[in-house]
Amino acid sequence: MKFFLSLCCLVLLSFGPANSQDFIRLDQGWKFHLGDSSSWAAPGYDDHSWKSIRVHRSWESQGYPDYDGYAWYRVHVTIPSSLKTASFLKGGLRIELGEIDDGDETFLNGTRIGINGGSVGPITSGLYNKERIYQVNLEEPAIRWDADNVIAVRVYDRGGDGGMWTGKYRLSVMDLPDFVDLDDSAPFSFQGSRRISKQLILRDKSPVYGMAGILQVTVTDPSDNKTVWERTLPVSFTASRPMHYLFLPALPSQQSYEVTYTFTEQKSRKSVSAQEGIPYILTPKPSPKPRINGARVTASRPGHPFLFRIPVTGNRPVRFQAKGLPEGLSLDSRTGIITGKVDQAGSYTVHVTASNSLGKATRDLTILVGDQIAYTPAMGWNSWNCWGLSVSDAKVRASANAMVSKGLVNHGWTYINIDDGWEKGRDSQGNIVANDKFPDMRALSSYIHSLGLKMGIYSSPGPKTCGGYTGSYQHEARDAATYARWGIDYLKYDWCSYSEIDPHPDLAGLQKPYRVMRAALDGVDRDILFSLCQYGMGAVWKWGAEVGGNSWRTTGDINDSWSSLSTIGFHQNICAPYAGPGHWNDPDMLVVGRVGWGPSLHNSRLTPDEQYTHISLWCLLSAPLLIGCDMSQLDDFTLNLLSNDEVLALDQDALGREANRIDSSGDIQVWAKPMADGSIAAGLFNLGDQMEKGTLPIGLLRLGDLVQVRDLWRQKDLGNFRDAFSAMIPSHGVVLVRIWPAK
Ligand code: GLA
Repeated sequence: MKFFLSLCCLVLLSFGPANSQDFIRLDQGWKFHLGDSSSWAAPGYDDHSWKSIRVHRSWESQGYPDYDGYAWYRVHVTIPSSLKTASFLKGGLRIELGEIDDGDETFLNGTRIGINGGSVGPITSGLYNKERIYQVNLEEPAIRWDADNVIAVRVYDRGGDGGMWTGKYRLSVMDLPDFVDLDDSAPFSFQGSRRISKQLILRDKSPVYGMAGILQVTVTDPSDNKTVWERTLPVSFTASRPMHYLFLPALPSQQSYEVTYTFTEQKSRKSVSAQEGIPYILTPKPSPKPRINGARVTASRPGHPFLFRIPVTGNRPVRFQAKGLPEGLSLDSRTGIITGKVDQAGSYTVHVTASNSLGKATRDLTILVGDQIAYTPAMGWNSWNCWGLSVSDAKVRASANAMVSKGLVNHGWTYINIDDGWEKGRDSQGNIVANDKFPDMRALSSYIHSLGLKMGIYSSPGPKTCGGYTGSYQHEARDAATYARWGIDYLKYDWCSYSEIDPHPDLAGLQKPYRVMRAALDGVDRDILFSLCQYGMGAVWKWGAEVGGNSWRTTGDINDSWSSLSTIGFHQNICAPYAGPGHWNDPDMLVVGRVGWGPSLHNSRLTPDEQYTHISLWCLLSAPLLIGCDMSQLDDFTLNLLSNDEVLALDQDALGREANRIDSSGDIQVWAKPMADGSIAAGLFNLGDQMEKGTLPIGLLRLGDLVQVRDLWRQKDLGNFRDAFSAMIPSHGVVLVRIWPAK
């Protein structure tokens, strides 16, 4: 009620334009102490002997290696009353504390203002990867205006990296931007390459205020900041009556533009803005004639169930034929799904044909039956980057269905992987049991297999997973047998609480839990791809293959920011020599499309050019490609990113060599990957903030002086080049090419 009265008075006043700096930064001056004591919440506690610590970086990287458990952060801050005076809507004090890994309990001058990012439950089950935004009523006596305040944060880390890192750290009084929702989450639709449409929705999130003012939509060219399209219109909207605005700019060329939405409230003249990149589609539509895509080699172990769906684009219906299938396998000529079991080890060349009313495509597929699987990096979907712990049977089925209905299955996408959050506990015999969200794992895998797809699951070598669910510790053989019974094809095995078992592992200690599970997997009669997840500890790329891993994470968790993507992606050259058929470096899952670590999702915060960089670089790196978004909401742009067969062919190339950085100059880096046919795939990346010319010195490739170059995203030959190939590259963008000696 207080809030309502103050609003009524305030709207009569007139304010100047918004000052975007109406907040206090909270990313400096933090003190830190390991352990746990309730007295550390008190404002008067003497913390001068505590160590300084930086937020934005894990505590492991600041002198507390491998520490899991409780620790406290404290910061002193003056809260000026001018923040309150400057706010038009005076909506409450807002304290943003980044994303805390894993759980937290936060105090302002000794008063608890939040726990675990807002959810109820013990701090030990807190969710990392969620923005910590706590709100305090402006009348709350805990706030000491114009005086020293202490924010104390009790943090609990279950395993892996821990602490207050990434995200925004600031304190503000909530105002117009907190109550006006410029909802730009609807996808862009494409009517041809340069004509797009998009629906913007304006919502009033304050319970009592009706918004009126001006909406301005401006499209600019980021290369010269020139406005290429603009509209201004009067708008009004309330909580119950949002405003929908459909706009259709025609864009001068096929590149990314920036669109800015600005709402200016008429009484306060304060503005709220949102900005996003307008995507552009480069992948040409597949031909209506059949084309066989995906890996040319697939591998399986003798006597184990075999499943392979031949990826083919082109008009349906398509009829499939396969000559030379090894004994024990059969092909469904209608679906292109090959199933069965091959007892005899060997290398089998199968001549595959796909035909429709417009034509016919043929290709040789090599089926290797031996002791190796994952001959090319896995391609599929994983639930974590979208659904987090809220994953369920229905969401997994929806993803599998979308994999087929959106046509991704025709480009080689195969795995449907459940990450953390499916486990309930153990039955009286010690068997792992799925929770209520997964009523019947066996039925789920049968469904996924019936689509020609494979199913993955997740566990930890420790007693608990990173999400606090039951892990496999001391039940490894039993769990492997359960996975085999359920029809599982992929296991992601995530270190996490294994730190409780071995807090300071040496190399043998790091390897031990993976060797144990490897032995357990070797004991079942099923191919289960073994994906190690321990964030790169002990330079895992040097020994991941030796302990039987088919892939291993080389880094901590990715998120949908340029700093995360570029830090991970452009530092992979150190691991590159260790990748090869059957054993791959894993720089973590894809963050394109609608992501959010569940249950609520947002469009990837990467710009369109950053997303092109992400897919191009991951393909060059021969990385496992695991889509991390809600598959049922795949938009045109994301589909274009995930369905370019010439780009995906780099990832799935039979030679299995990972790209290396072969040249760098200023913001430009060139990464190159040798291909099985003798050609070289190269990405010219621009890590800078402006469009720049990138140059690839041809001599570095050792393909001769004169080469022919093909643009892979556009699937277009660019002609012959001597000495150097140059191209203009957008900020954070890429030009991805494949190069052969000139004919
Ligand atoms: C770790 C992993 C993530 C995800 C979560 C699940 O953080 O690195 O990829 O599997 O655990 O809790």
